[in-house]
Amino acid sequence: MQRKILVTSALPYANGSIHLGHMVEYIQTDIWVRFQKMRGHEVHYVCADDAHGTPIMLRAQNQGITPEQLISEVSKEHQTDFADFAIGFDNYHSTHSDENRELASRIYLANRDAGHIEARTISQAYDPEKEMFLPDRFIRGECPKCGAADQYGDNCEACGATYEPTELKNPVSAVSGATPITKESEHYFFKLGDFEKTLQEWTHSDHLQPEVTRKLGEWFDSGLQDWDISRDAPYFGFEIPDTDNKFFYVWMDAPIGYLASFKHYCDREGVDFDSFMKPGSDTEMVHFIGKDIIYFHALFWPAMLEGAGFRQPDNIYAHGFLTVDGKKMSKSRGTFIKARTYLDHLNPEYLRYYFAAKLGSGIDDIDLSFEDFQTRINSDLVGKVVNIASRCAGFLSKRFDGQLADELSEPALFRDFANQAEAIAKRYEAREFGQAMREIMALADRANVYIDEMKPWVLAKEEGKEDEVQAICSMGINLFRVLIAYLKPVLPRTAEQAETFLNIAPLQWSDISSPLLGHQINQFKPLMTRIEQDKLDAIVADSKQSMAAEQPKAEPAAQSEQFDPIADEIQFDDFAKIDLRIAKIVNAEHVEGADKLLKLTLDIGLGEKQVFAGIKSAYAPEDLIGKLTVMVANLAPRKMRFGLSEGMVLAAGPGGKDLFILNPDDGAQPGMRVK
Ligand code: 2FM
Ligand code: ZN
Repeated sequence: MQRKILVTSALPYANGSIHLGHMVEYIQTDIWVRFQKMRGHEVHYVCADDAHGTPIMLRAQNQGITPEQLISEVSKEHQTDFADFAIGFDNYHSTHSDENRELASRIYLANRDAGHIEARTISQAYDPEKEMFLPDRFIRGECPKCGAADQYGDNCEACGATYEPTELKNPVSAVSGATPITKESEHYFFKLGDFEKTLQEWTHSDHLQPEVTRKLGEWFDSGLQDWDISRDAPYFGFEIPDTDNKFFYVWMDAPIGYLASFKHYCDREGVDFDSFMKPGSDTEMVHFIGKDIIYFHALFWPAMLEGAGFRQPDNIYAHGFLTVDGKKMSKSRGTFIKARTYLDHLNPEYLRYYFAAKLGSGIDDIDLSFEDFQTRINSDLVGKVVNIASRCAGFLSKRFDGQLADELSEPALFRDFANQAEAIAKRYEAREFGQAMREIMALADRANVYIDEMKPWVLAKEEGKEDEVQAICSMGINLFRVLIAYLKPVLPRTAEQAETFLNIAPLQWSDISSPLLGHQINQFKPLMTRIEQDKLDAIVADSKQSMAAEQPKAEPAAQSEQFDPIADEIQFDDFAKIDLRIAKIVNAEHVEGADKLLKLTLDIGLGEKQVFAGIKSAYAPEDLIGKLTVMVANLAPRKMRFGLSEGMVLAAGPGGKDLFILNPDDGAQPGMRVK
């Protein structure tokens, strides 16, 4: 039976570039969609930019452009990146669109009229200079638990504590630097608790992965909270109907953006939107998302839809995050890789294959290990799959004018290949892509063993063996064709080139079992080349460079951005504040009762400073006296147990004996600035 499926990937924010972390999801979804299409189902794969909210409004202000200009530029960039990765959206729209405005109003009003919206006055942090309410992430201050400086308004990155922004000590607005005040305003709340019963049922009825259902259980246990869906002006978004200057919170209209993009597509393509949206319709709606946004999709979204009399999603499939070489993506290490940076150096199909090989149906994180990436592509795709065609094609075109034999010489072998079609289809259907890739590669191994054993290159030199050579190579080409069909959802471009080489119509799943007999193929052109190390090095180098060149951001990073565990990024202005000076160590001595510290007296030309430095493990005081080093001269003095420390000396190394203080040349003079 032909299924009708609406498929979505999460909508990327319109204020930043697509990076490889995003690509996990788009590649995962696209593979699933291409597979379903190959099976003959009617699939509509839609997406859009998530264009509303405070960060986008402020970013546009910083750039001196309107939010509309910003989102239109970013949308173009996103769409080019996606197209170049062969992500085959049927439609790409924006949440800042007429369709979304209408649908958001319709869904809101239906919920309101059914009594699911409540107005309440709340107090919130307000920036009196910028005259705007501040989202939690735009307030910075000292952590109320551990005292760490410069923490976000909702959680501390130093100790992991979560708290209310009002609890932060010495809070400042990240937008203007002003001290926030508390101000009241009326907000609109969606009463999620009204849907508790149906949500309980829905979340336990095979719409979600089991680990997601378990996670949601914790939220049910702690009680479903009302959800604040409104924001005060100034806000880039849609005004809420029948209110004065209140706007829908970005997360309210974002998932509705899925439907808006679909509506836009239906209007263009003549698909019946309303019948798709009716409860009980024979169509499916499937959302692919990251595990960080489960709450929005598995609770609010079905509830909002139910409250408005719309159909429910059939499935929400969450995936894990991407790590690079086992660690979070890092700007300083050059592993925060933009989609474009990757595309500048490597074939997108390599990454599609690699992610496929790593992906399963669960929510575990997946790791991009450069070494493993290089090995797998070179050995699986180039060494195994493409190799089959290149080993057979030459003989066929040179000696037989590209003509394949009229019969299969090893029908049982071909049947073994083709008979895997249902098993592999099941893997794709269940998003067990890694399993599918392993099974396909096992077949590729068998095809290579077959050619190795038959040795067409030896027979080709013997007389009277023409038919055999043609038969073996035709078998090889037929096995290659089956493998390409299996890999087509993952490698659409390579498959297309292979179809041209094989001189066949686009492969469908149902074609797999019919071999190519007595058919003429075209000249073989190499389909893929090996990954060389210099390409990977260039990606890392370019990533470091492109991050360094990024404009300073006044707004904090989007919540879904992955943070570098090494250090938060600072701007040039922050760096410029550090006064680095050459200092002469005029005295160094042990500190009673301190295991690690030495007390240094430093001459910086303008007078002496006393610094306690944790370098005792590597230096005896007498080795240091008379030496030059570099110090941070303008660090606020800190009272320590042993006395006042008036600066810091710069040292690096893993610690212990291997700790190296900076040691400038003798030509340097105390007091010189280091720049
Ligand atoms: O987390 C994010 O990047 C959001 N922009 C995803 C939105 S998905 C959907 F709800 F629109
Ligand atoms: Zn803390």
